[in-house]
Amino acid sequence: MNTSNKTGVGAAIDRVEGHLKVTGKATYASEFPIENKVYAQGINSTIAKGTIVSIDTTEAENAAGVLAVITHKNAEKLNDFKKDRYQIATDTIAPVLQSNKVHYYGEYVGVVVAETFEQAQYAARLVKFEYSKASDPAIHFDKQRDNAFFPGEDSDYSRGDMEKGLAEADEVIEQTYITPIEHHHPMELHAVIAEWNNGKVTAYASQQMIEDATIAISDTFQIPQKDVRVIAAYVGGGFGSKLNVERHVTLAVMAAKMVGRPVQVTVTRTQMFTNTGLRQKNEQTMKIGAKKDGTMTALSHDTLSHTSPNLVYQEPCGMVSKMLYNSPNAKVTERLMPMNLQTPFAMRAPGEATGSFALESAMDEMAWKLKMDPLEFRIKNDTQTDLHKNQPFSSRLLVECLRIGAEKFGWKNRKDQPRTNVKGNWLVGYGVSAASRNSPYRKTHAKVLLELVEEKVEATIQMDATDIGTGTYTIVAQTAAEYLGIPVEQVKVELGDSNFPVTPGSGGSWGAASYCNGARAACENAVMKLKDNRSIPKDQKVALTELLKQNQITKFEMTGMAEPSTEFEKHSVFSFGANFAEVWVDKDTGMWRIERMVNVGAAGKILNPKTAYGQIIGGLTMGAGMAIAEKTDVEPNFGNFITRSFADYHVPVNLDMANIDVIFLPEEDKIANKMGIKGIGELGITSVAASLANAIFNATGKRMRDLPITPEKLIEAPLEPGVQEV
Ligand code: MOS
Repeated sequence: MNTSNKTGVGAAIDRVEGHLKVTGKATYASEFPIENKVYAQGINSTIAKGTIVSIDTTEAENAAGVLAVITHKNAEKLNDFKKDRYQIATDTIAPVLQSNKVHYYGEYVGVVVAETFEQAQYAARLVKFEYSKASDPAIHFDKQRDNAFFPGEDSDYSRGDMEKGLAEADEVIEQTYITPIEHHHPMELHAVIAEWNNGKVTAYASQQMIEDATIAISDTFQIPQKDVRVIAAYVGGGFGSKLNVERHVTLAVMAAKMVGRPVQVTVTRTQMFTNTGLRQKNEQTMKIGAKKDGTMTALSHDTLSHTSPNLVYQEPCGMVSKMLYNSPNAKVTERLMPMNLQTPFAMRAPGEATGSFALESAMDEMAWKLKMDPLEFRIKNDTQTDLHKNQPFSSRLLVECLRIGAEKFGWKNRKDQPRTNVKGNWLVGYGVSAASRNSPYRKTHAKVLLELVEEKVEATIQMDATDIGTGTYTIVAQTAAEYLGIPVEQVKVELGDSNFPVTPGSGGSWGAASYCNGARAACENAVMKLKDNRSIPKDQKVALTELLKQNQITKFEMTGMAEPSTEFEKHSVFSFGANFAEVWVDKDTGMWRIERMVNVGAAGKILNPKTAYGQIIGGLTMGAGMAIAEKTDVEPNFGNFITRSFADYHVPVNLDMANIDVIFLPEEDKIANKMGIKGIGELGITSVAASLANAIFNATGKRMRDLPITPEKLIEAPLEPGVQEV
């Protein structure tokens, strides 16, 4: 895109909302100054499976400031789940407190409403529950294997003939990779303030998708969607946990109705382990067959994971294996086991983040077996056709990402033999992995309001889009500046309100492409209409100020809509990337650290290199988190989580991520959409854990197939066949 607009699309400007954020003026859900508001505190079950036999609320009801104690006995009757969930449901009902049954440790069994936050917290502890505890809670992954079931439609895939492919292979590898339960943990706690007014409800809620939230509330409470307003002006991260309306929102809406006052619920950090979704443990078995020259003949990917007893969610771990490489024979399956843990849900590149750990580790294992450079093995099996969907990629610069990354990283200095690159007590290793992430694009509406103020046009863009910390405000402002031909300082962006035009919300890496094309459409329509009115030819350049003057108006508004084209539908639209990592492993203690990383991405038009860089850095950090530390442990007797705060759920710190290069290849994918944008939100996390595990193999000769890679595991792991102890 050629632009003379220094603040338009592609410019590395600072965030337009940055000042509001650092001065505390950006209002998050729990910060709206709602008059007369009270506080509710959810109560969590202390058994994993069973029934509530009796509840004593007397003491809590008599405690200072308490307005109501709600349990299944006096809760409003809510609409029940329409159906089991599969992948991302867009209209999930969130009933809560509807029966005496307990499905998992930490499930909400009650809520206390009080004048202050502290009073609610205190009184919540005074409610006494007596349970009848089931003797057989399903809390051990390994004991549930016999109960594994077929989740449905997309769960079995195959092409060609796996057996034939394996028979044609000179080498075959088969390995199993484990990724543990993880939690999203955005910095901003889940929070909501719900307020009723004449049968209508307003929810200030930390949600990623506004329209979905209004539908979920209207379905749950059986009120018209038009009577539900959801506001999420700023969201401090979601990572998938805020895609759905979770049950604290239902609790707030229900409680506000009962006490007749606005009610705030803030989910505590500990409750964010049990009440706002999780990434389930996955056990992934990979099989790869290849000829001596590196030609892949067969690839299979079988995933076993768990869901809750009452709802179904399958993380699509095998998705990447269906399309990334040129294997004519492939098979992908998924199986789920019901367990007494809360329902898992989409987290940080669901499918790709975990699936690519298995696939890209297995690729490295096969390269080692073939005695081939793992970079060349990947390039050898590149494909420009998506063999899963049997259609071309809109663009695919994976080989370019790998080659340019290798150059930048200094891949040629890698030693083929593990344990031969030694610096004092450190074993040094280089690792590579390929990344791909589906780049969806969804129907998006936007409105633009123009006003001539003194000799300048001021523009306001409105859409129900959310900025989950990603930079939506900034890139939408830049888009408007670009298509209206005005500086970004004259653009105001208003987001996160269901009163604004409908967008798909933020998730699945579709935000930037959808939002910006929606805003573009509104701006283009505005300019076109103003020209049409005065019979000005379409391609004649006229300043916006001049256009309004010629129309003899000072105010003008216009809407626009963007949606995928038929060309988009005929192609597979993915972003691609390559990760390179150098790790240093202490050969005595197994302590390891990331010395440096290089990430190269081909993700279409980069709207703002600064915000895009932030997205990738965030992704790399989460990917490193998978390898270094992230893991939620289930207590083996009671089924609660032992990991209950950031004191024991560890994430990377700045020192872990000190030395990172991020490179974007120049690309505009016009098949993807008019502006050439593809998603980057989830690309950055994809296959990072594999690049680190592969680097650890190159350093130590040990294959780490069970995340996270702790020093204990690393010390105890055996050397792989063919590795010399040096
Ligand atoms: Mo994402 S896991 O679609 O927020």
